[in-house]
Amino acid sequence: MKSYEKLLLQNKAWANEKVTDDPEFFSRLASIQTPEFLWIGCSDSRVPANEITGTQPGEIFVHRNIANLVVHTDLNLLTVLDYAVTHLKVKHIIVCGHYGCGGVKAAMTHHSLGIIDKWLRNIKDVHRLHRERMDAMKDPEAQADLLVELSVKEQVMNLAKTAIVQKAWKHKHRPQLHGWVYSLKDGLIKNVIEMEAGTRIDSLYEYDDL
Ligand code: CO
Repeated sequence: MKSYEKLLLQNKAWANEKVTDDPEFFSRLASIQTPEFLWIGCSDSRVPANEITGTQPGEIFVHRNIANLVVHTDLNLLTVLDYAVTHLKVKHIIVCGHYGCGGVKAAMTHHSLGIIDKWLRNIKDVHRLHRERMDAMKDPEAQADLLVELSVKEQVMNLAKTAIVQKAWKHKHRPQLHGWVYSLKDGLIKNVIEMEAGTRIDSLYEYDDL
């Protein structure tokens, strides 16, 4: 059997199991999608949103990219964000990074990897913002772990800087923003930042006419 054929077989078994457990499972999900959460995670195959949070299809709206970045010119991310906030009316946005992130590690090197350099530049910028704290860490692994956490915090702040989030904060008092870091070693998630709707951010980024 070819590797991908196994996936199709497993799909049949999974669909079967779902219907056995809950005959209405698919008919219920087919008609409406009302997730409470938007997940912005890393593309890394070891960090699947539903699996590590014990959630089911229909519960989390998901966007993933390399190193879970929130880049204000990324049309893909902004489209997902606007749809989730404005139309799905999610209550929470979770940016979830993970220790041992290859994207973060690559951003700490001086190797040129091609087009990905431009993407990882965003992580180098976070590194520069926290240069002293980073330099004070001597152990390279601890340094990478710190950068993972600092980057997640920065991405949460990037969300708060968007007009999409600020508008929802002003008129709907949602969503709450969360920055999490998942550990590949024990499967546990650490909460590194939380921002309530309406949190004041640097006034340079505040829009007063939304
Ligand atoms: Co990663």
